[in-house]
Amino acid sequence: MQSRQSDNVVWHQGDLTREARWSMLRAHGATLWLTGLSGSGKSTIGAALEHTLVARGVWSYRLDGDNIRHGLNGDLGFSAEDRVENIRRIAEVARLFADAGVLAITSFISPYAADRDAARALHDASGVPFLEIFVDTPLAVCEARDPKGLYRKARAGEITGFTGIDDPYEAPARPELVLRTERDDVARCVEGIVELLVARGIVGSTPGPG
Ligand code: ADX
Repeated sequence: MQSRQSDNVVWHQGDLTREARWSMLRAHGATLWLTGLSGSGKSTIGAALEHTLVARGVWSYRLDGDNIRHGLNGDLGFSAEDRVENIRRIAEVARLFADAGVLAITSFISPYAADRDAARALHDASGVPFLEIFVDTPLAVCEARDPKGLYRKARAGEITGFTGIDDPYEAPARPELVLRTERDDVARCVEGIVELLVARGIVGSTPGPG
């Protein structure tokens, strides 16, 4: 994961530690990594969660696949290499947000287990909490929802390499939380994530920063 073109760059350490920063700002950073098929509900849950947390006074910010692909990752497509690079960059960005004390909520398909594991390892190496949340919505349900009409296009052969149709999705083996959107509504899913955050001591049990 270490990628450096030049040897002539030297890490600069300021004198403000993460602990001191979080303590002075009364913040507690973490990355909440939502993974699942297109149409599984990642963006909807991520947005509702972000709103709920901010209303509780928790600094949160959402990094969303479709949105990030409009800017930072606008140069990337959906080949295996581009998906790897997409997730590598987001893991780095989420870690920076989390290090700053923000609760970073990422919603990317992130179909490859190795890339999610690398994102976790990156966080582990710097002691920033990383919670993987599997939005486990069956393909048939995602396809029936088809909010952007992309499954229809993929079935018609107008899009190739579409996750779940002719491109793989590797489900997480040991996610911190599994959400079932065909059973639970958005509010219940958000509640489940908040309960997890409280249990981990990342968010306080009463509104206000953790
Ligand atoms: S990821 O695989 O690299 O993690 P990401 O979450 O950024 O994907 O983007 C997925 C979104 O891009 C989907 O929700 C969908 O709207 C759109 N999309 C366009 N083409 C594809 C494709 N071939 N496979 C999956 N999603 C696609």
